[in-house]
Amino acid sequence: MKNKLDKLKISALKNIQQAEGLPALEEVENNILGRKAGELTELMKGLKDLPDEEKKITGQLMNEAKKEIEAAIGARQEELAAKSWAGDLEKERIDLTAPALPKMERGHWHPVSIVQKDLEEFFASMGFVVADGPELESEFFNFTALNIPADHPARDSQDTFYIKNHPNWVMRTHTSPLQIRSMQKYGAPLRVIMPGKCYRNEATDARHEHTFYQLEGVVIDEKITMAHMKGVLEAVAKHLYGPETKVRLRPKFYPFVEPGVNGEVTCFLCGGSGCRVCKQTGWMEIFGAGMIHPNVLKEGGIDPEKYQGFAFGFGLTRLVMLKYGIDDVRLLESGDLRLVKQF
Ligand code: DAH
Repeated sequence: MKNKLDKLKISALKNIQQAEGLPALEEVENNILGRKAGELTELMKGLKDLPDEEKKITGQLMNEAKKEIEAAIGARQEELAAKSWAGDLEKERIDLTAPALPKMERGHWHPVSIVQKDLEEFFASMGFVVADGPELESEFFNFTALNIPADHPARDSQDTFYIKNHPNWVMRTHTSPLQIRSMQKYGAPLRVIMPGKCYRNEATDARHEHTFYQLEGVVIDEKITMAHMKGVLEAVAKHLYGPETKVRLRPKFYPFVEPGVNGEVTCFLCGGSGCRVCKQTGWMEIFGAGMIHPNVLKEGGIDPEKYQGFAFGFGLTRLVMLKYGIDDVRLLESGDLRLVKQF
C-alpha cells in the first residue's frame, strides 16, 4: 500500500506541475482528490481493511500525502492565476509611441466665425468692446427706438418674422437694436461692436437668405465727427482688403442716422477697374453707417446735446462671401460639411 501511495504521490505532483491553465488543474485535482473516484480517495477507502497497527501508520502517511498534494495544487493555482493576470495586462498595454489614429478628425471653424473673430480682434485693438444680445427682439428695440416709424416698409410682414400670438416680438432683422441696448447698458462714452445673426422673411436665392450675419458698431463721445467715422471704416477696409483699399461714402437714408451713408470699398480683385466680383463697377458695397440720430441717442438714455456718435453695420455674411469667393449664400447655413471642411 505504501508503495502504491508513493507512486500516486509522485505522479500527482508531476501532473499538477504540468497542468497548463486553471481548468486543467481542476481536472487533475478531481482525478486525485475527487470524492467519487479520485485516486487517493479510493486508496483511502481501502484503509478500513488494514489491520489496526498498519491502519494508523498508513493513515498518517496518507494524510501527509494528501496535505502535500493540496499544497502543490494551491501553489500551482496561484502560479497560473498570476500568469493569466499578466496576460490580461499585456493585452491592455497601450503603446504610447504608436502614431495617432489616422481617422481622428479635427473640427473646423465656420467661415463666418473666422471673419467674425478676425474683426473682433481688430476692433479690440482699437479699444472696442465686443457685445451681443437677443435674436428674439421686441418690436420696440428692432424698430421704434431706432426711429423707424410704424408705417415704415421695413416693418412689413414681408421682411420681418413676427412671432405668432406675440405681436410685439420679432426675430431681429438687423443688429441695430443692439445700439440701443448697449447705450442703455454702458452709457457714454462708448466704443462697442456687436456681431450676430439676423433674420428676414425672404424668398431665398443665391444672394438672399433668411438667416445671415451683421456686425454693428457704435462710437459715442463728446466731439465725434464724420471724420472719425471715415477713419475707423477706412482702417477696417484696409485691414480686410489691403493697404491700397479706398473707401467711398455716398448719401443713403437710414432712419436711425443723420446723415446716413452707404459705404463701398474698392474691389479687392480688380483694384477698381471693374470685374466679375464688383459687377464691373470697381466698388463693393459692404456697410451702412452714419451719425447717430438724436432721437436714437435719447432712446439709449444719452444726452444728444452733450454727446454725438456714429454707428455702422457691416454685412458680415457678405464680407465672408467676398473673402472666400463663395457665390451662393445658401451654402453658409446649409450645414453641409463639405463647405466647412475647406476652412
Ligand atoms: N441696420 C442696417 C441694415 O440692416 C445697416 C446699418 C445702416 C447699420 C446704417 C447702421 C447704420 O448702424 O448706421 O440695413
